[in-house]
Amino acid sequence: MNDELKALVRTIPDFPKPGIQFRDVTTLLLDSGGVARTIDALAETVDGPVDLVAAIEARGFAIGGALAVKLNAGLLLIRKDGKLPGTTIAEDYALEYGSDRLAMHVDACAPGDRVLIVDDLLATGGTALAAARLIRRAGGEIAGARFVIDLPDLGGGKALAEAGIDHASLFEFE
Ligand code: PRP
Ligand code: HPA
Repeated sequence: MNDELKALVRTIPDFPKPGIQFRDVTTLLLDSGGVARTIDALAETVDGPVDLVAAIEARGFAIGGALAVKLNAGLLLIRKDGKLPGTTIAEDYALEYGSDRLAMHVDACAPGDRVLIVDDLLATGGTALAAARLIRRAGGEIAGARFVIDLPDLGGGKALAEAGIDHASLFEFE
């Protein structure tokens, strides 16, 4: 079944830089049945309580927002630095093609809240690990991390496992 979802992801060569095969989740999002099945499949990988879904800007907002509804959890937006209006904490991280800085409102989670990190895609894991550092600094507990797509050759799954973060994705691209 996840093969049908995988087939809805478009691959764009040389974006955003030469040599990168960009796995484009927007084509899966355009398919109404695809979105519903994606969210159902992600929800099936979650057991145990989740107080908040932490969705990562930008494509993670689409997946995480829908999954928060399905799990009856709150939605915590983790944004690129400089976008949130309240008092924030921030973490730098390296990407497959550059570096960036993520931020969250310092009061977005209560101590002990169980927070599930959600994004469209896991590559090096730098983004998800930066999100985990933010959530822990704010007092939250990491319930795990969930992705639609994993690019295992880039090592993100291994990095999350080494950090003790339970993680799952629906399908992989070499
Ligand atoms: C992509 C993707 C993940 C991240 C994964 O986002 O949506 O957030 O990269 O890479 P990593 O595992 O190596 O950290 P991108 O940084 O392109 O930002 P965008 O969603 O704002 O376009
Ligand atoms: N697609 C979307 N985001 C990404 C990718 C990709 O192929 N690689 C690293 N971040």
